[in-house]
Amino acid sequence: MTVAIIMGSDSDWGVMKAAVDTLKNFGVEVEVTVASAHRTPQKVHDFVKNSPAQIFIAAAGMAAHLAGVVASLTTKPVIGVPINSEPFKGLDSLLSTVQMPSGIPVATLAVNGAKNAALFAIEILALQDNDLAKKLISYREQMAAEIELKDKKIKEALS
Ligand code: RP5
Repeated sequence: MTVAIIMGSDSDWGVMKAAVDTLKNFGVEVEVTVASAHRTPQKVHDFVKNSPAQIFIAAAGMAAHLAGVVASLTTKPVIGVPINSEPFKGLDSLLSTVQMPSGIPVATLAVNGAKNAALFAIEILALQDNDLAKKLISYREQMAAEIELKDKKIKEALS
């Protein structure tokens, strides 16, 4: 298992499924665990300390301290995904995840940025994996081709 995704609750799954799908599409092994920094702190500790993962993705909403706690337990890269939640629509999660005090970094993506979290993890892994690097280039070429197709369709609709 190469990437470990830790979610503060199963209610985060609707967002984080996109990260799992993306990692699997690139052939990256991924494990998903529900563990909460405040409800099950010992579980978070034990999971991170025993995980063979090279990269952690931590997703949580509200006072989202999960990614910071995970980062405090490992020197492996930790990618944070703030989850959109009420009543502050994810701004609380974003600030809790991104504003890490100096010394313990969390690479924080957009609110609900599950897909980009997976892609960023893949980019890190691709530094030492040529096949993965080639897949990333193909992925970008495919995206560019899709944009050209959209551009063509819009132009056709307007002509
Ligand atoms: C956070 O609180 C979780 O990550 C989730 O985003 C939020 C709400 O959790 P539940 O009440 O749905 O379990 O810890």
